[in-house]
Amino acid sequence: MATAPKDNNKPAQEILLRVEGLTKIYDGTVKAVDDVSLTVTKGEIFALLGGSGCGKSTLLRMLAGFETPTKGKIFLAGQDITDLPPYQRPINMMFQSYALFPHLSVWENIAFGLKRDGMPKDQIAERVEKMLNLVQLAKYAQRKPHQLSGGQQQRVALARSLAKRPQLLLLDEPLGALDKKLRETTQLELVNIIEDVGVTCVLVTHDQEEAMTMASRIAVMSEGYFLQVGEPDAVYEMPNSRQVADFIGNVNIFDGVIEEDEADHVTVRCPECVHYVGHGVSGHSGMAVGVALRPEKIILSKDKPKGEYNWCAGEVIEIVYFGAHTTYHLKLDSGKVIKAQELNNTRDLSCGLTWGDRAYAQWNDLAMVVLTH
Ligand SMILES: Nc1ncnc2c1ncn2[C@@H]1O[C@H](COP(=O)(O)OP(=O)(O)OP(=O)(O)O)[C@@H](O)[C@H]1O
Ligand SMILES: [Mg+2]
Repeated sequence: MATAPKDNNKPAQEILLRVEGLTKIYDGTVKAVDDVSLTVTKGEIFALLGGSGCGKSTLLRMLAGFETPTKGKIFLAGQDITDLPPYQRPINMMFQSYALFPHLSVWENIAFGLKRDGMPKDQIAERVEKMLNLVQLAKYAQRKPHQLSGGQQQRVALARSLAKRPQLLLLDEPLGALDKKLRETTQLELVNIIEDVGVTCVLVTHDQEEAMTMASRIAVMSEGYFLQVGEPDAVYEMPNSRQVADFIGNVNIFDGVIEEDEADHVTVRCPECVHYVGHGVSGHSGMAVGVALRPEKIILSKDKPKGEYNWCAGEVIEIVYFGAHTTYHLKLDSGKVIKAQELNNTRDLSCGLTWGDRAYAQWNDLAMVVLTH
């Protein structure tokens, strides 16, 4: 199978965080984190992505020192910090519900941790001003949290987490409290701020788009362990299993059997169609596999495609309009329903299909991923 292009000109990256075989078992039975190993390089934004209860917060809390690992080690800049208490770690964690102190002003919220550490007053003032400018809230310094919008409150929480200049910033669902529109703008703001400060960041989210937009690498988690770790485009374009393909974005999965197994191509026979995949895979002829095909890689038309590979036919049973694109649900002759997404780049729906029409779906030989497990 093809792999993501790697930039070989990148300088060797310095590893900031290294985790080895980290495990957390609650109450002797609940395996919340299961033998996780990872490295995060300096300046990276690393996302932990997974459904509710898969162990994201537990992993983050162990990094911060609020939870004791059952097994495993944590190294920061080469130093074993596994047994250090939270306040001795150069790490700051912003919690899932980033409670600001409601009775304190924005300024006092940001200064809080610095005061507690006994930093001299003039240095506190200087640091708080810097943070306020960074998150563009200088003119709101004297307001109380309830006098701010959700996005502004979130930026105060971030400024508070960054004020102590941690080496590692841990963000647990940092944008969870924001609505969709605000989330999207804040995601980019947050990335800019993190990059400006040059802090390394581990971010928890259950929102795959958020992970893709913000992170340099993503770990897809399930039941306490990592299913796949990689750059966003690699995880999206080359999921290593059905579970990852299914979790990240929309996907059609065809069940079939490998027929031709060549170094430069394979064919997979499914009840609906025969896939011709334009590269080799790590499988063998006769092997049962899944073929994952993203809806946006499908082209719909009323005309029957030529050739014997990479198309199937069905009836349009649903049309869902999303503004920028439209998703067509096609009931294939086998009974299977697939989704195809067409861009609305003209005013009329460009493929001209409507409910009840017979339609043909086709795709090219590099559009799909063969899943062997
Ligand atoms: N203190 C605890 N005692 C016992 N079990 C716990 C404790 N904290 C978490 N768990 C369990 O460990 C598992 C992982 O929980 P965790 O909070 O890490 O999940 P999460 O991925 O952050 O989920 P969410 O997206 O809902 O925040 C869950 O099954 C949870 O019920
Ligand atoms: Mg959580």
